[in-house]
Amino acid sequence: LVCASKRVIFATMLVLDGKIAAAAVKEQIAKEVQLLIAGQKRVPHLAAILIGNNPASQAYVGNKVKTCAELGFESTLIAEPAMEEADLLSLIEKLNKDTTIDGILVQLPLPKNINEEKIIMAIDPQKDVDGFHPINVGKMAIGSPSYLPATPYGIMLMLEHFKIETSGKHCVVLGRSNIVGTPMSILLSRNTNPGNCTVTLCHSRTQNLAQHLLPADIIVAAIGIPFFVKEEMVKHGAVIIDVGINSIEAPEKKSGKRLVGDVDYEALKEKVSAMTPVPGGVGLMTIAGLMQNTLNARLNKPN
Ligand code: GUN
Repeated sequence: LVCASKRVIFATMLVLDGKIAAAAVKEQIAKEVQLLIAGQKRVPHLAAILIGNNPASQAYVGNKVKTCAELGFESTLIAEPAMEEADLLSLIEKLNKDTTIDGILVQLPLPKNINEEKIIMAIDPQKDVDGFHPINVGKMAIGSPSYLPATPYGIMLMLEHFKIETSGKHCVVLGRSNIVGTPMSILLSRNTNPGNCTVTLCHSRTQNLAQHLLPADIIVAAIGIPFFVKEEMVKHGAVIIDVGINSIEAPEKKSGKRLVGDVDYEALKEKVSAMTPVPGGVGLMTIAGLMQNTLNARLNKPN
């Protein structure tokens, strides 16, 4: 469709459906597991550690363990309401040495008494299926095989699945966390496909943020502010990846709450060419990325 101002209207925006892309990734993984079983080999085994009682973390870890079962992986969940740092370090040491465990995941954030950096450093980089250990982060930065952080990895798998053109495109990443923004900016700028983007990384100190966003061909929003990215900040035909998972009040719902992203989906759905929904978008890809990493760890094949 062409309107009076000769701008293309994307009446048929492509919904980047996480359920569809994750199903395709998981189907491949499940096939690999069947091959292991047929060869009488051990299936992948993920150990998930959850300390504290953060409801969001409980839900995330629950989904990870459930997906392991779905794919034929083994999983061990270690959930404790509280733990001393030294005890968590001993537990990780034990799991590092256990040759029947392929992947170790410590759900973040950890309670205040535990130093996250120390814990991440203690995980064997070959079992670090979250890709948070500095050895894996360093390898990722120089383009060596490594375990990639699950959310950015899942987004790369999604871009690949929907054949989104990235080469030479200008991508703006909003947010610089170690879990999403920073690794996302590295992965999209690497000489790979998807990849080869020109990347701008924006954060809380960026001045004139809207000015940076407007020319973007691809936007990855990961700042944790509901509806932050508005219609007037985005150019026609852009691709939007919404990493936000924000709980807002919704009196019309029985629970009184609903999940929304960092992007004003309703206002943008007729302007952009493709966009992830929330829920049902990136969240499902994070799990797919983690499962792929766990299989890769079982096969000693980082990517
Ligand atoms: N907290 C938020 N995202 C993640 C993740 O991908 N892995 C872990 N371990 N904790 C998280």
